[in-house]
Amino acid sequence: MSVAPVPADPADEVELDLFLEALHRRWHYDFRSYSRASLVRRADLARERLGCATLSDLQGRLLRDPLILPDVIDAMTVQVSELFRDPSYYLALRREVVPHLRTFPSLKVWVAGCADGEEVYSLAILFQEEGLLDRTLFYATEINRRALARAEAGVYAIDRLPAFSQNYQRAGGTGTLADHYTAAYGRVAFDRRLRDRTVFTEHNLATDQVFSEVHLVSCRNVLIYFDSPLQDRALGLFAEALTRGGFLGLGSHETLRFSSQARHFAAFHEPDRIWRRTASREDAHA
Ligand SMILES: C[S@@+](CC[C@H](N)C(=O)[O-])C[C@H]1O[C@@H](n2cnc3c(N)ncnc32)[C@H](O)[C@@H]1O
Repeated sequence: MSVAPVPADPADEVELDLFLEALHRRWHYDFRSYSRASLVRRADLARERLGCATLSDLQGRLLRDPLILPDVIDAMTVQVSELFRDPSYYLALRREVVPHLRTFPSLKVWVAGCADGEEVYSLAILFQEEGLLDRTLFYATEINRRALARAEAGVYAIDRLPAFSQNYQRAGGTGTLADHYTAAYGRVAFDRRLRDRTVFTEHNLATDQVFSEVHLVSCRNVLIYFDSPLQDRALGLFAEALTRGGFLGLGSHETLRFSSQARHFAAFHEPDRIWRRTASREDAHA
């Protein structure tokens, strides 16, 4: 027997809308087109972490106190990630995509929603092992400034290493993960050379524009938090940024099949959610 969903309290709905409006109008963070179920949970987490009785109380503080903004953004975003998360994605990149990328004299890669940096270090290691790192410029973008700072530092708790190493092997790593980091004091620091050619910068897929032409966009586990129009917006940015024949990799629960932007892409390796840009960048606006 199916259980009927409990209807949302209209007062809670208005309170959430006003909180999102305040966040947008006062601080220019636009969460209004994120998927509603996740927004309800994240906003409530922000309220709880900041010790407010109601979302309206939090809204009042947020309007006047910039110091609480990073804590609010932390609560509103999810940084869960792993090195070589979903190893088969990286294996597919290595085996199927790299041979195409190799034909370019120089490469640009956009990692959108890079969280604490695990995805960008995974790609940098893969590119280094495939001899592509020196000719590649990575853009690692994110809305959460604290996460971006952690990504740039490239330092992780040592207890995450077993999972990282296992993923690395499954992703077709050609050496050992230890070739790429130094361990000390309970932490591992990834080699500087992996991020020497990475620009870490704030970029919001909900409000910002394209900043460069790229050959690969890797945007994993970000679109799942967006509603369909916002997913379309982000996919439109990727279509506009990608060079003809460029590649787009999404998360294992994400697809562009139902998007208005699907016409700009052809399936390349669907099991691992990799698509290819079909025509010129100009038609992305069409
Ligand atoms: C679950 S993490 C994904 C991390 C990594 N891409 C992965 O798949 O392992 C989602 C990230 O997207 C970021 N994010 C959320 N909304 C965003 C937006 N509008 N523009 C850019 N990044 C966003 C969050 O701050 C968070 O760090």
